[in-house]
Amino acid sequence: MAAETSRRGFLRSVGVAGGAGVLYSTMGAMGLAPVPVAEAVPYRAPSSSDFHLTGRGGKKVLILGAGIAGLTTAYELGKAGYDCRILDAKDRPGGRNWTARGGTVETDLDGATQRARFSSGQYMNCGPGRLPQSHVTLDYCRELGVALEAFVNANADAYIYHGNSAALAGKPMRWRTAKADVYGYISELLAKATDQGALDAALTKDDKDRLIAFLQSFGAIKGKAEGFAYTGSSRRGYSVEPGAAHEKGTVLGPVPSMSDVLASGVGQRFAFEFGYDQAMMMFQPVGGMDAIPKALERAVGRDRITYNAWATGVSNVPGGVEVSWKDNRGRERFERADFCVVATPPQIAARLRHNLGDNVTTALKTPVPVSAGKIGLEYKRRWWELDDHMYGGVVPTDTDLANMWFPSAGYQSARGMVIGYYNTGSNSEAYAKLAPDARAARAVDRGVKIFGDRYRSELAASFSVAWTRTAGFEGAWVGWPNQDGPEYALLNQPQGAVYFAGDWLSHTIAWQHGAFTSARKVVTEIHQRVMAA
Ligand code: PHE
Repeated sequence: MAAETSRRGFLRSVGVAGGAGVLYSTMGAMGLAPVPVAEAVPYRAPSSSDFHLTGRGGKKVLILGAGIAGLTTAYELGKAGYDCRILDAKDRPGGRNWTARGGTVETDLDGATQRARFSSGQYMNCGPGRLPQSHVTLDYCRELGVALEAFVNANADAYIYHGNSAALAGKPMRWRTAKADVYGYISELLAKATDQGALDAALTKDDKDRLIAFLQSFGAIKGKAEGFAYTGSSRRGYSVEPGAAHEKGTVLGPVPSMSDVLASGVGQRFAFEFGYDQAMMMFQPVGGMDAIPKALERAVGRDRITYNAWATGVSNVPGGVEVSWKDNRGRERFERADFCVVATPPQIAARLRHNLGDNVTTALKTPVPVSAGKIGLEYKRRWWELDDHMYGGVVPTDTDLANMWFPSAGYQSARGMVIGYYNTGSNSEAYAKLAPDARAARAVDRGVKIFGDRYRSELAASFSVAWTRTAGFEGAWVGWPNQDGPEYALLNQPQGAVYFAGDWLSHTIAWQHGAFTSARKVVTEIHQRVMAA
């Protein structure tokens, strides 16, 4: 009893000092946690108490960019009383974490202005849209009071559309049907091969029995007497649902041939949901992804952020940094601070006037911006729920739409927002180079082929984002030719009093987790430097 009490007391004190993550790791070390848990790099926020008795105080820090990395830098340094100020070119926090609603206006680099005419309560996440359970983004949501709900990244009743597949005759197929057929035929083949002795060099008699038992379960195949045949099962779905009294239901048929199933290519879609960062459960903030930057803005203090401020330069000067920017009247302004954190995309930072050396410019130009785009299509009727019984989910296609997303919230309500495309690379550029109306027309034409006329007739409004054509970003994210090279290493080091932060300086590029963790790293480095000075 006494031992138990003191053990609990010890765990409680660890928990108070280090947060739940440290507590859980400690439990693991004591043999109390049932399963080892991968932890983010341990992080301890700076605290004003760190300065007690040292005579040191919070320094002044200028931050370029009010995206997740910039906001987090200000938020975390603010916990210890640093005097942070953020400059951002946009008129809102969040950067690429951007949610479009009715009234959202944006003019792109081609001069095309869109005004979203979505109805009240409807929104589209133009940038990030889904959060895995392992990301510190969820910890920030908890800390900041951002409510979460499930994001449906996998749904057995969503479709796969391989319009180019003759085997599917241009018809969409449900994920559950595709899985039943692919797992079924693969199981049949492997069971036959095993039974016929083709794998005898690799398997003992017991192994073979166990493998066949697994395949019968996994593929819903027949027994040995029937040649382990896959002949379909209710896993495919029904054309008539089972019902009352004598209605047994009619299993969806006919079952395509093994050759047609292989030719359809649907099996190549399955790996998507095996991905470490794409596997269910996934989450989204209730009401829009921008709940995260809005909460960070509140926590940092609105008065610490200057919007419509385009950074033009950053230089090391004796005792600190000098930053210049253009204000909303086009006037160039200058300000000094102890440190600067550049939290813009690298391709934007590369254009700053600076005295950090040519190798910094070269390094900033090394990562390659990636094109990605989305279109939000608001519908007057949730036909995917009413007609198709599909409640959320991702529909991959072999068209230039790439992926379509169906809403993960507002089920059974009147209207709903479909992401008509979320595409990258050449598919994204094909839409990026079109005017907004032409993008919508093309996306709807493609969608009609998959979902029929309702895809056009029930449409209420649309809004599209092409990240390569969006001012202040000019890319959705970046790809490094090499993250072990000197350029990546250079930008992960302070250049005098100038630091760089962003998802592009992480190994979770294209996730907010990368921005949060990069900001934490820079915050830790600045704080250690100040404490050691
Ligand atoms: N995070 C983005 C998304 O989920 C981009 C991305 C896609 C990143 C796939 C990694 C893997 O769509």
